[in-house]
Amino acid sequence: MGDWWLDAVLYEVYIRSFTDSGSDGVGDLAGITSRLPYLRDLGVDGIWITPFYRSPMADHGYDVADHRAVDPLFGDLATFDTLLAEAHRHGLKVLVDLVPNHSSNAHPAFRAALAAGAGSPERDLYIFRDGRGADGDEPPNNWVSVFGGPAWTRATDGQWYLHLFAPEQPDWNWRHPRVRDDHDATVRFWLDRGVDGFRIDVTHGLIKNDLLPDNPPPPSDGIPFFRERAEPHHWDQEGVHEIYQRWRAIVEDYRRRDGQARVLVGETWVADPRRLARYVRPDELHLTFAFSLLAASWSAPAWRTAIAADLAATAEVGAPTTWVLANHDVTRPASRYGSGESGLRRARAALLTLLALPGPVFLYQGDELGLPEVDVPPAHRQDPVWERSGHSRPGRDGCRVPLPWSGREAPYGFSADGVPPWLPQPDGWAELAAAAQASDPLSTLVLARGALALRRALPMLGAGLLRWRDDTPPTVLAFDRPSPPGPPGTPPGPFSGATGLTCVMSTAGTDVDLVIPGRLVLASSPVGYDGTTLTLPPDTTVWLAPHPG
Ligand code: GLC
Repeated sequence: MGDWWLDAVLYEVYIRSFTDSGSDGVGDLAGITSRLPYLRDLGVDGIWITPFYRSPMADHGYDVADHRAVDPLFGDLATFDTLLAEAHRHGLKVLVDLVPNHSSNAHPAFRAALAAGAGSPERDLYIFRDGRGADGDEPPNNWVSVFGGPAWTRATDGQWYLHLFAPEQPDWNWRHPRVRDDHDATVRFWLDRGVDGFRIDVTHGLIKNDLLPDNPPPPSDGIPFFRERAEPHHWDQEGVHEIYQRWRAIVEDYRRRDGQARVLVGETWVADPRRLARYVRPDELHLTFAFSLLAASWSAPAWRTAIAADLAATAEVGAPTTWVLANHDVTRPASRYGSGESGLRRARAALLTLLALPGPVFLYQGDELGLPEVDVPPAHRQDPVWERSGHSRPGRDGCRVPLPWSGREAPYGFSADGVPPWLPQPDGWAELAAAAQASDPLSTLVLARGALALRRALPMLGAGLLRWRDDTPPTVLAFDRPSPPGPPGTPPGPFSGATGLTCVMSTAGTDVDLVIPGRLVLASSPVGYDGTTLTLPPDTTVWLAPHPG
């Protein structure tokens, strides 16, 4: 038996938008506790909760003012402890978010740095520099913020500080031992409370080239999704790795003491799978999201290329690949792969393929409901990206709209009736609500539950081998998950006698006929199958249990 995360399915809870147990229109910790039975029935192995720490919420909690305190908006430490204990009682693991690249500008250390002035030891915990130009009134270099605008903001005494994200998120100086020690203390604090691991924010950003050289001029079509080639001096620097070795040593130390395995998962936006795999070498993080699949277009060849490259790269360092199609920063799959009915068909097909891949999978809340991206009206947009980009980028609010749970109209059981959620939910979400889908056998929720239950029950799913099938046209992605040999004397399980499980996903524009003798296990849309010939309609995934020979 390997460690629990090697084939786990983890569910991202974007806390603001999951469930509001109070009446302020913002989701909270007690709201998560109230939905644990839903998550257990969905069949996931655990949750990752986005930041709930004390914060002025300039980036909705990713601007942390105290990493060891709960923001009153979400509850308190006692509410967190209850959630953790209840989750464990339901057999669910809990990962919390660690945000080490930057703090909030309301963090006491940043306030002290501003007050202490240029050249002070307090300023050394962040990245302060004099400006360029005769009066120092130009930023120290040409770096830009991920959210838009310059990556530097001027303090009142004339020095500038670096923020790769919003001005309210000053970057820590990770060369400083006090910064390292303070984060070690945060890691230990949450481990001592009993968490099962961390999702670590912006793992590729912590260390900057000390000389702070200018970046090359940006590409004419803008900086891409993966930024490290356009911005070579502050992403994916060699120095980040020793930080992860340090945290790995801490969790190994806890494991030696109590035998419990905790997991470190990186959010590493690095395009080259071999560079990415360096974050999951044996003495660093356990997992890191494989974002190349998330970035792949709706096309079987693009999926195959991404999956094969990620599998090969992580295998070289002995780590699994961590699959993900969505999170709180990107357009929801049901809209990204298309729109309306065809977008939903594709999202359902994508979900089944994702769950057939070997290794851990992360789902994003609402993807089990097939929620689409919402075009949040400009007056309601809250993401700093909208303002920082001068209203040229709508930002990420569209994937963060509070979940519909039940009822005919907003807030659809998210908040108490009559309380407007922090982002408006669209009309017409009643059919998408979890309660409505639970009683519809053809719903995405029932499909997701079925797939997760099978993934648990079938030994060929989860961790293990993937073998590509080359007997399908290029617009069809097809792979086998061979059955592992059971110990002698094992009674036959479901679909025993099959050589494994075959997953076939069509991105073709017309029906495709394939000859695969076997039994039908699950399909994302109706298919034709007579036990030998499979007629696969466009944008459909099917799981089959093939007969031997
Ligand atoms: C990560 C988070 C994102 C946040 C950013 C800055 O990418 O996922 O939501 O805005 O880091 O902390």
